[in-house]
Amino acid sequence: LHASLTVDPAFRVADVSPRTFGSFVEHMGRCVYTGIYEPGHPLADEDGLRRDVLDLVRELGVTTVRYPGGNFVSGFRWEDSVGPVEQRPTRLDLAWHSTETNAFGLHEFHRWAEKAGVEPMMAVNLGTRGVAEALDLLEYCNHPEGTALSDRRGANGTKEPFGIRMWCLGNEMDGPWQTGHKTAAEYGRLAAETARAMRMIDPRLELVACGSSSSSMPTFGSWEATVLEHAYDQVDYISCHAYYEELDGDLGSFLASGVDMDHFVESVVATADHVRAKLRRKKRINLSFDEWNVWYNTRFESQEKPTDWAVAPRVIEDEYNVADAVVVGGLLISLLRHADRVTAASLAQLVNVIAPIRSEPGGPSWRQTTFHPFAQAARHARGTVLRVEPVAPVYDTKRFGEVPVVDAVATHIAGADGADELTVFAVNRHQSEDVELALDLRAFPGYTPVEHSVLNDTDIRATNTQDNPGRVRPREAGTGFVTDGRLTESLPPVSWNVIRLR
Ligand code: AHR
Repeated sequence: LHASLTVDPAFRVADVSPRTFGSFVEHMGRCVYTGIYEPGHPLADEDGLRRDVLDLVRELGVTTVRYPGGNFVSGFRWEDSVGPVEQRPTRLDLAWHSTETNAFGLHEFHRWAEKAGVEPMMAVNLGTRGVAEALDLLEYCNHPEGTALSDRRGANGTKEPFGIRMWCLGNEMDGPWQTGHKTAAEYGRLAAETARAMRMIDPRLELVACGSSSSSMPTFGSWEATVLEHAYDQVDYISCHAYYEELDGDLGSFLASGVDMDHFVESVVATADHVRAKLRRKKRINLSFDEWNVWYNTRFESQEKPTDWAVAPRVIEDEYNVADAVVVGGLLISLLRHADRVTAASLAQLVNVIAPIRSEPGGPSWRQTTFHPFAQAARHARGTVLRVEPVAPVYDTKRFGEVPVVDAVATHIAGADGADELTVFAVNRHQSEDVELALDLRAFPGYTPVEHSVLNDTDIRATNTQDNPGRVRPREAGTGFVTDGRLTESLPPVSWNVIRLR
């Protein structure tokens, strides 16, 4: 098969927002306990944080981390999670039918985020709580000193303010499963009032209103419109959440999940801009795609829910294969393609729970297949995003009709001292055929390829496991030559490709 695309600096979308490469730590399953935090583990540091996991988080290139939920946040009482550990109450976590010991809380997360070098993104509880508790949490975290709450933070060991800039106003409030679920109008009012009050403490905050928890929600579209009609002036972002899985053996549709993400983003942008027109506003609302990933959710939904209220049980520890990694790559391409409006995103989640990083209690940690496309994009998607409009053969899918076999996007950074770099990210979704991809590079004279990295495998179901953690990883494919401004690279079936030129 043959495909082509054109890379030209004129086809600029927007600058790459570093926040595109965010992730998510929820008090769920083993993301926190025995994930990022495990006192007593041979590799734990003085704060009980796993050094091996911290190393992998840094290698992954994560920029922001959303915390502490997720559905968990809708029952979270932040006060439980600060102060002397032995005095912190143990609570029921209704979201995941678990027991929360609160051994890990706000200060531990702050320490961890500092060590990981990530920007924290905090969610407030708008399920069982409201404006007053959100204000208390904000004052506790960010006010310098001299008030009861800020001095309590100091007394609890952190004199310097946490300085958290980005805040989520609740989580998935459109979902009937959410503790304290609300109608769009109820939530829109609450989000507006909470945001208005939070800005009285600090007008520079960046605030995210909850959008739909998936594009298949019956209220999708109308939820966003109603929420924004109430909260347009008070918020900066509307959130999107999407999880993908292979359903009924339909691999073709699954590999084209990026098409669904494109549709999701474009629908929410249209809805936000409709409200903008209606309200006659200049400001635009951007998208925080703050939960996205592959999640074998139907397997989870079909399991009986635990009744034993365990502490940090094993929950949705999905093991990802090659096809999943290619889908994650396709989703990254979709996010980058919309860099003009999707300016924040969080891969959900970070460790153990549908995560790129796995860890065993007392044991090793390792990279899942999906770690690799994320790490490569976080590392190489720099500068400006360029549209490349691939021309490729199509294949038929049950869910999306005809879909091109190749999807791609490019980024270009004009660095000093010849550090310019052009990178093309591409997936081949065809299940059996190579695609010869011809890149028209005439607008980038003098650039030559320095690397073509490929992630694929003859067994697309291959995974990385504790016993064989390096089974699936990118390999150097060897590059072609640029002739008359054109370069051809071969993309194997079901593959993620990173082609770098300088
Ligand atoms: O990431 C797992 C869960 O998925 C989150 O808690 C929730 O927000 C979403 O439904």
